[in-house]
Amino acid sequence: MDFEIVSGDIASLETECLIIAIEAENTLSPAAKAADDASSGYISEILSGGDISGKTAQTLLLHKVPGLSAKRILLLGVGKEEERNNRNFRKLIKAAMGVVKSTGVSSATFALNAVLTDDSDQYRQLRHLVEWSGSELYSYDETKSKKADPLKLDQIAILVDDNDADLAETALLDGTAIVNGTSIARDLGNLPGNICTPTYLADQALELDDEFDDLTATIVDEEEMTELGMHCLLSVGHGSEQPSKLIVMEYKGGEEGEKPHVLVGKGITFDTGGISLKPGAGMDEMKFDMCGAASVFGAMTAICEMALPINVVGIVAAAENMPSGHATKPGDIVTTMSGQTVEILNTDAEGRLVLCDALTYAGRFEPASVVDIATLTGACIIALGHHATGVLANNDDLAAELLQAGEQAADKGWQLPLWDEFQEQLDSNFADIANIGGRPAGTITAACFLSRFTKEYRWAHLDIAGVAWNSGGKDKGATGRCVPLLTQYLLNQAAEEE
Ligand code: BES
Ligand code: MN
Ligand code: ZN
Repeated sequence: MDFEIVSGDIASLETECLIIAIEAENTLSPAAKAADDASSGYISEILSGGDISGKTAQTLLLHKVPGLSAKRILLLGVGKEEERNNRNFRKLIKAAMGVVKSTGVSSATFALNAVLTDDSDQYRQLRHLVEWSGSELYSYDETKSKKADPLKLDQIAILVDDNDADLAETALLDGTAIVNGTSIARDLGNLPGNICTPTYLADQALELDDEFDDLTATIVDEEEMTELGMHCLLSVGHGSEQPSKLIVMEYKGGEEGEKPHVLVGKGITFDTGGISLKPGAGMDEMKFDMCGAASVFGAMTAICEMALPINVVGIVAAAENMPSGHATKPGDIVTTMSGQTVEILNTDAEGRLVLCDALTYAGRFEPASVVDIATLTGACIIALGHHATGVLANNDDLAAELLQAGEQAADKGWQLPLWDEFQEQLDSNFADIANIGGRPAGTITAACFLSRFTKEYRWAHLDIAGVAWNSGGKDKGATGRCVPLLTQYLLNQAAEEE
């Protein structure tokens, strides 16, 4: 999709569909007023007919409006002032894009109000408009024999004041990078486990290496991982025919020697639970257990596209968790790369087992910060539902930065405590740590496990179990969260550098 910033007079705008806002109780927005004047009151006449009242996300498509060059006018309800927030903004963009898609126009132009989001930050509103209209165009047909009809729509324009053109261009570039990154994460998430294997993910990294000069990918295979002592990560893939991979992507946009920010993604390409086998119902959804990894690929792509002036390392711990005669058994004890031993009491708590060695490996980059992203615990869905990412950290400033990035990117997180009290739940009679801490506070004890491997640096953990995909039904599929949050976090780091 081609996005474009335009400015000028509404009446002479050449577009197949001009989208203008109607405020609550039939009130014309400034753009609608201008269009109404140009059409000698045609629009207000329609409004007085009662076909639309201006409630959030209402739509009414008009053809051949006199006095305007646009072929169609789409009236779009934006509600009352107090109803204008991110959630409603996303809803009304979805409604408008629904009409635009079904009408089969080749171009559409948004001419909306100045303030329709939570904060009155114009850059962010324009960026969200790009992100959210772009994401309405996402469709997955990779594994269907009949491909979706190609969209006729090939251009979305956004009308802004002349003075705001520079800010709007930046919003457009950043928004495009984020929506592209999000789509990549969704595609990877949606691919089935028989295609998206650890080796497939490794190949994706090599492709990024080819595509972007500033990015170098290195694949650490099982033999090298054995040499490094990553027996905990390796234990997860023992039951699988698919070799495990540690995927390392180094992006160098900053100064030589400047400490990198490291992202570490859980890349379980299928989680059967292993010998602690999961129940059958809905198990297919465990193909999404690599969505943390997918968000790392998405964020890395976005920062490459934006050419951020910082150094970032993306690490993906990829393995398939299967039962077999070779599989790790409950009670088995493995030695991690850090030297600590782990008693694997439940083979279904495998995410932390691959992450702990990847986190130890992250230490070699002397990172400015490390953030891991994982579909780690079902308990996180019980705690926070499907709205917020769970945020836990060994550093409250870092947690605050991530929460703020989540607010700014409308990809919200919520912090859970990582107090020492919880650590005792991981005591083991036979090893240094057990890999499970019982039912209470499952998300926190999982993070406690990871915290044993992150003592050397500023670290945060994002549990995306509740937000990474939509279950069942028509909406079933990967969401691409938290590519926006991660990208915003890195944008903020880059802004601080300057
Ligand atoms: N990938 C799952 C967590 C998960 C479950 C995410 C459902 C999203 C939806 C993880 O590997 C897992 O199985 N965790 C166990 C941990 C338990 C054995 C301590 C869980 O949450 O039940
Ligand atoms: Mn599991
Ligand atoms: Zn898992």
